[in-house]
Amino acid sequence: METERTYLRFPLNYRIEHWGMVLSFTMLAITGLVQKFAFSGVSIWIITGLGGIENVRIIHRIAATVLMVEAVYHIGLIGYNLIVRHYSADLMLSRTDLKNALQAFQYNLGLRNEQPLQGRYTFEEKFEYFAIIWGTIVMIVTGFVLWNPIAATTVLPGEFVPAAKAVHSGEALLAVLAIIVWHMYHVHIRKFNKSMITGRISEEDMREEHPLELATLQTAAEAEPDPNLARRRRNFLAIYGVVALALLVGIYVFVTFEQTALETVVPEETVVIYTQPNTQPEPIAVSFEMPMTSWENGVGQFFQTRCVFCHGSRIPLSGLDLTTYDTALLGGTSLAAIIPNDPENSGVILKFTNGDHPVLMTNDELERLSAWISAGAPQ
Ligand code: HEC
Repeated sequence: METERTYLRFPLNYRIEHWGMVLSFTMLAITGLVQKFAFSGVSIWIITGLGGIENVRIIHRIAATVLMVEAVYHIGLIGYNLIVRHYSADLMLSRTDLKNALQAFQYNLGLRNEQPLQGRYTFEEKFEYFAIIWGTIVMIVTGFVLWNPIAATTVLPGEFVPAAKAVHSGEALLAVLAIIVWHMYHVHIRKFNKSMITGRISEEDMREEHPLELATLQTAAEAEPDPNLARRRRNFLAIYGVVALALLVGIYVFVTFEQTALETVVPEETVVIYTQPNTQPEPIAVSFEMPMTSWENGVGQFFQTRCVFCHGSRIPLSGLDLTTYDTALLGGTSLAAIIPNDPENSGVILKFTNGDHPVLMTNDELERLSAWISAGAPQ
């Protein structure tokens, strides 16, 4: 059987990078989403399975660190390809990609007969690539604020912390959904693409998906050895070494600067930081001014101004009506309000000295009212 010709699509280092990314992304997504939806049953099951929320946070941070280191490597790879190898920037989005996207859209609706002819990277792949680049930048920046809120708020207003959280978790959901919908569909469902595993792509797939690249490959002349390559590589590696080192130091600071939001703080014992002011209000300062020698001379007037509001004939609270001498002597439902010669057992005094009455009397009023009762409560 004649084996079909295949082309190298992803060299080993590309594939390692891709699977490192898959691993860190998946761990980030799992440990992040269970925090976003912390109260769902699945989340609780996963959090418990991973040994508690603190472990989840630590795994999330380890995966984030892997992703950041991966990003530093990727910057180097891109630089190497462009500057040393002089590869064309075939991953860049161009106007052709927009045209291709439109054509694919029309083709899918049956408005065009031809799929767009695409090169090494199709517009579907480029969109995804830039979504990852953009998403990773957003996640690193907002992740920094969440990981180091104290450092961040020395330069940014405090509102940036909850804002960063909203962006971080929203972008996370977007990224996961994009992978599930866009990547899954284009790479696994539409046609199972194994090139990230084997590194190779069949001629047939090449013709179908990357016809322009196939054409260049077939017509390309044997590449001349580039005499300047070694020099460019030396220069590039020297500069990139410095940049990478600076970035790695940056990551180290990022990761170790603060331990904030890693451990769940065990609630301290509850301490009262606010005590209600003494429920017994200060006695009203201004006493009833008239003398209280008899009901007619002051006492009736006193009850009228201070008590009848609640103990009037219309709605006598506790059955006590203090509008007239006679009704006052009848008392309330549980206490005899006035017992002549016995102020201590009279309700109007007792209720106020034992402190279970909603309004108060001044000491002066109590004294004068007691004196009146002691004198036989004259009318
Ligand atoms: C803001 C409404 C209000 C005012 C004003 C008021 N009282 Fe009362 N009084 C109550 C209420 C309510 C009760 C029942 C509360 C309880 O049983 O603890 C009560 C109960 C009493 C009782 C006990 C009655 C019984 O048989 O249970 C006496 C005596 C009394 N008040 C006297 C007075 C006097 C004297 C004044 C005026 C200095 C006064 N009250 C002003 C609301 C008021």
